[in-house]
Amino acid sequence: MPAAGVAAMQVDVFTLFPEWFDWMRRPRHLTNADLDLRAFNYRDYTPLSAGQVDDSPYGGGPGMVVRVDVVAAALEAVYGLPATRIRTQRPVIVLSPRGRMLTDGVVRELADAPAITLLCGRYEGFDERVHVLLASDAICMGPYVLAGGEIPAMAVVDAVGRRLPGALGNQASLEHESFSPTLAGGTEYPHYTRPAEFLGESVPDVLLSGDHGAVARWREAHQGPAPGRMS
Ligand SMILES: C[S@@+](CC[C@H](N)C(=O)[O-])C[C@H]1O[C@@H](n2cnc3c(N)ncnc32)[C@H](O)[C@@H]1O
Repeated sequence: MPAAGVAAMQVDVFTLFPEWFDWMRRPRHLTNADLDLRAFNYRDYTPLSAGQVDDSPYGGGPGMVVRVDVVAAALEAVYGLPATRIRTQRPVIVLSPRGRMLTDGVVRELADAPAITLLCGRYEGFDERVHVLLASDAICMGPYVLAGGEIPAMAVVDAVGRRLPGALGNQASLEHESFSPTLAGGTEYPHYTRPAEFLGESVPDVLLSGDHGAVARWREAHQGPAPGRMS
C-alpha cells in the first residue's frame, strides 16, 4: 500500500504535446482513481539553443529523428538523476511500433508498478540510443503506425488507470471482463438494459426470468472467443 497522501500510481509522460493529457486529469475521467499523472514537454529541457528536439537521420532518408541528448536532458531535469539510471528506479517505457503488444496481461503488469514513465515519439521515431541507454521497455499499441506516441500513451494511462483503486464503481467489474483470465482471454457476454423492447428488438427472455442459474448459463454461452493470432 502506498503511504498516506501518496497516489497508488504515478505516471509521467514525456511528449511534445503535454496539454493533450490535461483532459485525463479532469474530474469525472477515472473518477477517483488514485493516479498522479504528469506531462512534460521535451522542448522545455532541450540543451540546443534553437529549441530543437529532432535532427535528420544519419545515413540519409526521409523525416526527422528525436534526439537522444534531448530525451536524456528532459529525464535528468525531471528526476535529478543520470538519465541512464532512471530505469533502475521505475520502468521507462518507449511507445514504439517495435515494442511488445499492449495486451490485458501487459496492462495488469504495469498496473502493479508504483510509478512508470512513458516516452512519446514523433516524426520517424527516437534515435536508437533512447531504446538502448534510457528505456527499460517498449510498448506497441497495435500493428499500425500512428503519427505519435501520445494516443498509445493515453491508452496505457486509461487501461492502467481503470485498474487502480477507486477508478470504477465496482472493482468486481475488473475480474470478469473481456480478455481477463476469468474469461480465458475471451470477450464478455452482451449487456442489455431498459427498454425491454426497442424497434422490434427484444431483450432475451432469460434475462427477464429472474432465474439466476439460467442467466449465468446464457451469459457463459454468449461469451466471445479469445482473439486469434494477429497476422
Ligand atoms: C510516425 S511514428 C514512427 C514510425 C517509424 N518510422 C516506423 O516505421 O516504425 C512516430 C512515433 O509514433 C509512435 N507510434 C506510432 N505508431 C505506434 C504504435 N503502433 N504503437 C506505439 N507507438 C506508436 C512512436 O512513439 C513513434 O516513435
